[in-house]
Amino acid sequence: MNASPLSLRSSKKSKYGAPPNFNGLARIYRCMELVTFGPWLQRCRCAFLGNLSGCRRAAVLGDGDGRFTAQLLRANPVIEIDAVDSSATMLRTLLRRARHNAARVRAHCADARTWQPANPPYDLIVTHFFLDCLTENEVRSLAGRLRGALSHAGLWVVSEFAIPEGAFGRWVARPVVWLLYRTFWLLTGLSVRNLPDHAAALSAAGLNLRERRSWLGGLLIAEIWAGFPAQAN
Ligand SMILES: C[S@@+](CC[C@H](N)C(=O)[O-])C[C@H]1O[C@@H](n2cnc3c(N)ncnc32)[C@H](O)[C@@H]1O
Repeated sequence: MNASPLSLRSSKKSKYGAPPNFNGLARIYRCMELVTFGPWLQRCRCAFLGNLSGCRRAAVLGDGDGRFTAQLLRANPVIEIDAVDSSATMLRTLLRRARHNAARVRAHCADARTWQPANPPYDLIVTHFFLDCLTENEVRSLAGRLRGALSHAGLWVVSEFAIPEGAFGRWVARPVVWLLYRTFWLLTGLSVRNLPDHAAALSAAGLNLRERRSWLGGLLIAEIWAGFPAQAN
């Protein structure tokens, strides 16, 4: 890749409000996560790493401090990545963490809701704990736009919080998600209050769920979606 690794774009006029500001969290993000969820979020992000060895070009949206990106670059020595995040500080941390593999990352400091895919077609799109920063309409619009940038055999990997059915969902998962939204509202100005139904949005964009795994009683999920239906045996 010969483009400069971090392209800082001023946001063009958009119908959306300003994205939340995660700059102040970049340095402490990993510690915050380890104190609250231990190793579970990273397990979730890396759940399908083994399925991604054939991928060559990825768009990774809102990866924050880049722990997944670093793992993906290590696991797949040929993949090239467009990393999109509205936080310049997060992107710098991501590039530092990628170390010698940073040459395979093109960083785009942009609002993903209006970002125009830079190097389509992608055979991989990744959104780990990012779609929950968007409203359902925003996820639908993003999914529709990125679906057009995904190759026929392309994959979309998602990690998210979820509120499962039943008592655990009602008494544990729902309050935890509520607390997370309040905390990020205070720390970053995130205005979204509820988990969007990302599955409905991805399905509406013509993607098919391949596999879903869950942890912590269903509070955490990882999914792999594909642009074409699974072949019947
Ligand atoms: C909750 S953090 C998740 C970080 C990481 N993916 C993880 O798994 O922990 C959300 C990340 O998305 C970025 N972000 C939030 N809204 C965004 C938007 N509209 N466009 C681009 N990036 C955004 C934030 O700057 C932050 O780095």
